[in-house]
Amino acid sequence: MNLKKEIERRRTFAVISHPDAGKTTLTEKLLLFGGAIHVAGAVKSNKIKKTATSDWMEIEKQRGISVATSVMGFDYEDYKINILDTPGHQDFAEDTFRTLTAVDSVIVVVDVAKGVETQTRRLMEVCRMRNTPVMVFVNKLDREGKDPFEILDELEEELQINVRPLSWPIDMGDRFRGVYNLYRGSLDLYKPSKQVVTESVQLEIDSPDLDKHLSPDLSKTLRNEVELITEVYPEFDREEYLAGKLTPVFFGSALNNFGVKELLDCFVEIAPSPRKVEAEERVVEPLEEAFTGFVFKIHANMDPNHRSRIAFVKVCSGKFERNVNYKHVRFNRMMKFSSPTAFMAQKKEILDEAYAGDIVGLPDTGNFMIGDTLTSGEDLHFKGLPSFSPEMFKYIENADPLKSKQLQKGVEQLMDEGVAQLFTNQFNGRRIIGTVGQLQFEVIEYRLLHEYGAQCRWEPIHLYKACWIESDDQEQLADFKKRKYQYLAKDKQGRDVFLAESRYILMMAQQDFKNIRFHFSSEY
Ligand code: G4P
Repeated sequence: MNLKKEIERRRTFAVISHPDAGKTTLTEKLLLFGGAIHVAGAVKSNKIKKTATSDWMEIEKQRGISVATSVMGFDYEDYKINILDTPGHQDFAEDTFRTLTAVDSVIVVVDVAKGVETQTRRLMEVCRMRNTPVMVFVNKLDREGKDPFEILDELEEELQINVRPLSWPIDMGDRFRGVYNLYRGSLDLYKPSKQVVTESVQLEIDSPDLDKHLSPDLSKTLRNEVELITEVYPEFDREEYLAGKLTPVFFGSALNNFGVKELLDCFVEIAPSPRKVEAEERVVEPLEEAFTGFVFKIHANMDPNHRSRIAFVKVCSGKFERNVNYKHVRFNRMMKFSSPTAFMAQKKEILDEAYAGDIVGLPDTGNFMIGDTLTSGEDLHFKGLPSFSPEMFKYIENADPLKSKQLQKGVEQLMDEGVAQLFTNQFNGRRIIGTVGQLQFEVIEYRLLHEYGAQCRWEPIHLYKACWIESDDQEQLADFKKRKYQYLAKDKQGRDVFLAESRYILMMAQQDFKNIRFHFSSEY
């Protein structure tokens, strides 16, 4: 198969949801259809969620498993599918944001009873920012929930998107009968079953045969509702979807395997193949011959005895090959990889080649950090992997004087992985760790001890936000730095960061120093 064909048959996406809406269940059912797994329950264990902070050990135990399922590649019909898993726990939100930079589209799962929830809202913001094409799967129709029209309104209002249903539920809860597949024009009847594909009948909505399958009341309601949909919602337009402006909506029950095949079949047909990627220097097209890619995730501790890490590289263009020299742009050095891994559903295997859209795992001993670019020789820097202003801060101190080197190294490496952010206070030289959730402090402490043999101690620091500052007005910048000298820090790349103690102080600073730009994301 030639390069173009290989790349165009790839579909790389993430399933995202608020915890408990059914992301894991849906992912698993997609794998079942793809023949990648044969029994339900195989992916279940990748849940890192709901766990209270005290349950950190449990999370650590699950990490091994979650690595195996963090990318799930499989063939489905003529397509190569790559599903990227995202952590469910909100304390790992940054991981999720970064994963979203490596996908070409997204499926959002929404619980029919709960509608749009906080995490759905946040994740959708990221998709909107990047114009990522999004599909919605409204799940749990086998339970009572909100009226489907209400759900559509809520999606439009809360997520600021235009929707177009491509399937429509016939009743719900105990009375759930199935969906009418508007995309194909078929009636898909529902029989509760966790494994078996249910019955599907090709039927026009006004076919008299509809009444053979549904009671007169139900078919009348269905016809009316379908008519209403046609009147109210725009025709489905694939270009609009690909531009991230129109969101197709499907209904079903992932647990009962219903509506999932409809979703998948439509998805592979309309979802985008790898999209172009912006680098600082230029836009990179996936069909370019030369290989390019970037590291969007680093996973450590696959084997606690070897402190090995895997850098996950999204191939942006061309073909990646084993044992070929590629340029590590930040190091300005050629490197080749003898055992890159492919992620095929549950197992990892050595790969010889990978194409744009694929994810390659590179065993790493500390050469990579999030955002690193690899190319066939060109100097490129991919954009779009920002760090956001953290919300929680603590001083990190060494608790074992004999292990200060280990602590240093551990902190460095964990920061490269993007576990949290490190700032060095310019006034007292103390190091501050910034996170989005409490859980990350526990992760760091635990991992420093178990992977690096180092012990840390946390000390409180009262901060509201850390923001990156810059200015063309050097005089004002110097004045600001002089006045705020106790609250200035450097990030890991040595850039200036202002540590604001309160919202008020930040506001006053913005007001008093008009020529200084305060940034809340590291990419500016
Ligand atoms: P998540 O990854 O988004 O957090 O959700 P997950 O798939 O783990 O699903 C959350 C719960 O919702 C699970 O129940 C799951 O069985 C249930 N669920 C998923 N899809 C459906 C559906 O279509 N209908 C119904 N009725 N339930 C659904 P749990 O009790 O938390 O876990 P388990 O004991 O079933 O494993």
